[in-house]
Amino acid sequence: MPESEIGVVGLGTMGAMLTLNIADNGFRVSAYNRTHARVTELMETAGNLARRIAPCKSVEALVQSLKRPRNVILMVPAGSVVDAQIDALQPLLDDDDLIIDMGNANFHDTRRRAQAAHEAGRPYLGVGISGGAEGARFGPSIMGGGPRESWDRVAHILDVIAADHEGQPCARWMGEDGAGHFVKTVHNGIEYADMQLIAEAYGVMRDGMGMAAEECAEVFTRWNDGVLKSYLVEISGKVAAARDDSTGTPALDVILDRAGQKGTGRWTVIESQMLGAPVPVIEAAVGARNMSAMRHLRLQGASLYRPNACRLDDGLEIQDLEQALIAGKILCYAQGFDLLYKASTDFGWSLPMPGIAEIWREGCIIRSAMLNDTAAALREAPGTNLALADHFRALMDKNVDGLRKTALAAQAARLPVPALAAALAYFDTLTCERTTANMLQAQRDYFGAHGFERIDGEGAHHGPWHGHDLDGNSTQG
Ligand code: 6PG
Repeated sequence: MPESEIGVVGLGTMGAMLTLNIADNGFRVSAYNRTHARVTELMETAGNLARRIAPCKSVEALVQSLKRPRNVILMVPAGSVVDAQIDALQPLLDDDDLIIDMGNANFHDTRRRAQAAHEAGRPYLGVGISGGAEGARFGPSIMGGGPRESWDRVAHILDVIAADHEGQPCARWMGEDGAGHFVKTVHNGIEYADMQLIAEAYGVMRDGMGMAAEECAEVFTRWNDGVLKSYLVEISGKVAAARDDSTGTPALDVILDRAGQKGTGRWTVIESQMLGAPVPVIEAAVGARNMSAMRHLRLQGASLYRPNACRLDDGLEIQDLEQALIAGKILCYAQGFDLLYKASTDFGWSLPMPGIAEIWREGCIIRSAMLNDTAAALREAPGTNLALADHFRALMDKNVDGLRKTALAAQAARLPVPALAAALAYFDTLTCERTTANMLQAQRDYFGAHGFERIDGEGAHHGPWHGHDLDGNSTQG
């Protein structure tokens, strides 16, 4: 068999689908998995594409099957497995052979690995991909990080296996070292928030308006024809319409309300805190998943505190909910892109801000019609807060009342809407000329002499309480 253009190590669902995608696009690809049964399985399901796939029984065999300089994709679980795989590969590779980690790595790990590779004089790419199994098979969104020349070396493959938006590949180099994995992490943070906002709208319909799953499905399907057009709204309509095979009831009604997570949403929140770039809607979404997992506590809480059901305000309409989602989505994007911009500066990456919105328009989980306008707004001003950009300001003007109405009505009816409430609080803070942080500054100065700025002068000042003990008595004689 002729030599392969590229190799894939790790044939879990994503690795297997990516291998088929590469083969489907005309490239010869070598495939290896620690458990060989997965290689056999892949070859059996590959059909006609098997002729372009070289099944390998060992890493050595994989390395030997590749054209030089070699390109090896790692599709193994994030964390120590990646390090172990790099350690296993490195002695077999030449200095100019390229390792490409396409898993959901923490960008700090990618920076460390990139640094080690750089010191050893070896190329290394950390590449985020989004789109789930279907995306991996038929066209994901691809976010690359590492040396530009290494990206260019494999761009002819990544561009064609990626999704495309009106002829443009949804694959792009984001910047050095961990830039690609950072962008993917923020993508996932937005994914968490987007999902949570939709789930909260579903909750208001189900518990506040007494709507059946099928009725919710119709609403989602209708919304998917408007401003909210997106993959996540589309699949929410589909899952709400589906029936459980064994009971015949709506599938949603038999699913336990305990959500899983692998950590990328949490990483987004941690990094936002480290960078001082607030993402409260994403935080609320991560928090909501954590709360969902504490089922025993919730059951206890419900039995102690919820003897009576609460009524939702009769005046709340489906249209208010749609507006709430539109406003919430804009604010969640605004936060995510602000975080990306802050990271771009702090880590010295020069992230292609409009480019990120562009490659998220197809292939990835958060793909949505709104990303087109996002790209346009960021092209005009890459560091703009989206909620303040002309196009979105007009949309917020039209929709923020619905967000306010929904969040207030839901809270009055004791329906938990943490992401919608966080979006509203963010908006009210973002548009507040005078916040209450003067009180915080006074408190800080009182107990710690931290000083504050005055509204009428330069420099650091202390308050009149300075020099007083905690009871307010003067300590200065
Ligand atoms: C994607 C997804 C994917 C993620 C899953 C599960 O862009 O294709 O973000 O990478 O791993 O959605 O994530 P959680 O288990 O954390 O929900």
